[in-house]
Amino acid sequence: MVLGKLRSNDVFKPGSFPKYTYVSRMSAGFNFTYELRLTQAMNTPGYLTSIIGPSKTGKTVLSEKVIGIENIVSLTGSDFKDGMEFWSIVANKVGLSLEGEYSETASLKGTDTNPEDKSVSTKERFVSSKDKVIQHFEENNLVLVIDDFHYAPEKLQLDIAYQLKDVIRREFKAVVISLPHRADDAIRKNPDLSGRLNLINIEPWQENDLKEIAVTGYGQLGIEISDQFASRMALESLTSPQLMQSICLNLAIILKTDEEDIKKINDQKKLEECFRFTTSNLPYQEVVKKLMAGPPTRGQRRKKYQLESGNEEDIYYLLLKAIALDPPVVRISLDEMKERIDRLTTGSKEKIERAKIRDTLQKIHDIMLANGQIYQVFEWKDNQIYILDPLFLFYLRWGTY
Ligand SMILES: Nc1ncnc2c1ncn2[C@@H]1O[C@H](COP(=O)(O)OP(=O)(O)O)[C@@H](O)[C@H]1O
Ligand SMILES: [Mg+2]
Repeated sequence: MVLGKLRSNDVFKPGSFPKYTYVSRMSAGFNFTYELRLTQAMNTPGYLTSIIGPSKTGKTVLSEKVIGIENIVSLTGSDFKDGMEFWSIVANKVGLSLEGEYSETASLKGTDTNPEDKSVSTKERFVSSKDKVIQHFEENNLVLVIDDFHYAPEKLQLDIAYQLKDVIRREFKAVVISLPHRADDAIRKNPDLSGRLNLINIEPWQENDLKEIAVTGYGQLGIEISDQFASRMALESLTSPQLMQSICLNLAIILKTDEEDIKKINDQKKLEECFRFTTSNLPYQEVVKKLMAGPPTRGQRRKKYQLESGNEEDIYYLLLKAIALDPPVVRISLDEMKERIDRLTTGSKEKIERAKIRDTLQKIHDIMLANGQIYQVFEWKDNQIYILDPLFLFYLRWGTY
């Protein structure tokens, strides 16, 4: 190996910051990049920045890119627990000791108030720890990033917003990152914050930006991939840069690009093998099983339909298989589902009615809602399927279940 040559896992980073394959995108509706918008936000004193976007679309990576990992003080919503003071949590994170502060204010107050009066000393400590934190952030050019804000307990969300509102006017820099979710109401619909928010909405990824991850990354490894090949990878990644990073890395592993001298990749068979390989760590086997099983039948046998293969399957199986058909897309209408199911059952004497497809989708939706977060893979509303989790669709297409 040539000294200093990059390895595939230096370049493709499905779980962390992609130094060599970072792609800059235009923010939807504006002709500016997300990086420029966040830079603008960071340079607008007195404003709080709210970043919203679906899971795994690059919210954390964007803030790391623009603010710099060394300037970020990162807390997540779940760091905030009932009964803990906001500023103590932040102070603790940056290693500020508040103990000294506590006795100082307590003894000071103790001269004219009852020293036993904890409410007074606690209040004083609260104020001064806040000041100390603000000063520390300013001196060190730090930015507080509250990631995954939706994990903060609901009753604390408003308090966090209140604490932030109070300090941003003192030019304390803070970013709140969240899923598009009710949780964000505490920030975006908070009347106290209106007119003082930088709003950045991260959109799902489009084909060209996804392709750039593959083309740039393989370019760094000295390997050429054709435009068409990159398009196929992007199509399967759906809207997920993380899935694209995984596919690229797994392809390199399968082709042993780090060991062998490969200059060009164009093997579609290997790519399909890579897709199957990539599903091996995706946690959807139980999800698919449960959705395919449908609701309990109470002993009745479900009607079966004949497939082209000659096998007979029930409507739950057919619906999931129809979702998995080409082309992979994040939104499928009822009419399109009808057409896909007809395609699957061309040999069958009986066609499945639209109304039956609709009712069955509703039942699958109900099963998802009755189960945990991982089961929330698509939404069924207004006669449309909206895929919420691109990784699930990928698993449905390439996984074994
Ligand atoms: N701008 C980008 N360029 C290339 N890959 C990216 C980019 N943003 C995200 N990714 C990929 O997606 C993964 C998930 O991004 P992350 O920021 O953790 O998502 P989120 O915080 O929105 O859940 C990253 O680890 C990286 O592999
Ligand atoms: Mg994140």
